[in-house]
Amino acid sequence: METQFQKIEENANNVKIYEAAGRILKSGGLVAFPTETVYGLGGDALNPTASEKIYAAKGRPSDNPLIVHISKVQDLYELCADVPEKALLLAEKFWPGPLTMVLPKNDKVPKTTTGGLDTVAIRMPNHPVALDLIRTSGVFIAAPSANLSGRPSPTKAEHVLQDMNGRIDMIIDGGSVEIGIESTIIDLTEEEPVILRPGFITEKMLSEVVGNVQIDPAVALGTIGKTGQGDFKPKAPGMKYRHYAPKGDLTIVESEDVEKVISYINQQVDMLSKEGKTTGVLTTEDNISLYKADHVLSVGQRADELSISSHLFDVLRQFDDLGVECIFSEGFAREDVGYAIMNRLMKAAGGKVLVVK
Ligand code: TXA
Ligand code: MG
Repeated sequence: METQFQKIEENANNVKIYEAAGRILKSGGLVAFPTETVYGLGGDALNPTASEKIYAAKGRPSDNPLIVHISKVQDLYELCADVPEKALLLAEKFWPGPLTMVLPKNDKVPKTTTGGLDTVAIRMPNHPVALDLIRTSGVFIAAPSANLSGRPSPTKAEHVLQDMNGRIDMIIDGGSVEIGIESTIIDLTEEEPVILRPGFITEKMLSEVVGNVQIDPAVALGTIGKTGQGDFKPKAPGMKYRHYAPKGDLTIVESEDVEKVISYINQQVDMLSKEGKTTGVLTTEDNISLYKADHVLSVGQRADELSISSHLFDVLRQFDDLGVECIFSEGFAREDVGYAIMNRLMKAAGGKVLVVK
């Protein structure tokens, strides 16, 4: 299959692109598009064949449900058997935006889209291209992140091209995304809402709107790397899979004293270089000049969480492109968005965190 690559230009007339993309979606094809979090791999959510194509293109297990993207709150009633008050409060506060809600599905939503579940995950993205595509196509768009299963989520159209060229009908390039990590997922089918995946919308922000919220123990930072092994079975099926992982071996190094982190990493790098390994360090602008590895890459500024979230996956992909075999990463503060950043980083490291005393 030949994949069309279409760039959305600001101040240009992009109608033809949306029309072509809409035709593809309506006929059961696949179109990748930008959202504010990561690029999505879209298909018609109500067409079971389209969902099957999404699983195939990603190489994703079909028990891992897709998020359905809508363009107005009213659309909830088209897809859900019940829309609780809390969903409306959250939609009013955070939509369009990086929040996905899990709700009971109605009969229109095929089980292929929901990975066999009776619930459906729904989100209204805050990106003009995504919203225009949903509106002009007239399709509710099922879209997982547009990466091959297991790879870091795509934050640029080039990442999608790397993973999906020849596997899907079209890629719409809308530039780099803003947030860079996937939406927060909240399950509203329980008495008390449960966060199934942390993201830019934090526990604190959610509880200010709907009162107490739980965090699925399987995504708590302390259990990452142990999830899926008996005790901690995550409620979002996707959270059990190995994820975001670079090809090289990634270790997070932490200490109360940053100097100890730097000297430990430099020591390890020195040793590994002598063994002939290609080494890399993931850090921020603050410390970039202090490391001696083959490839020292910065994700942003430590004081600016959004700079870190928006570059994290891109940097993990760069280590792959550079053929880095052993990667060391600094840790990040675990409050607010930092919690979601550390969730992704720890998953990428398979839970491998080393604390230097
Ligand atoms: O930011 C995002 O959410 C991006 C953009 C494209 O919108 N999408 C995204 O989709 O991250 P994906 O498929 O990569 O991750 C969806 C996650 C998976 O972990 C899946 O298991 C979970 O959502 N999920 C989907 N439907 C669910 C449901 N009904 N119940 C529980 N978890 C669900
Ligand atoms: Mg994903």
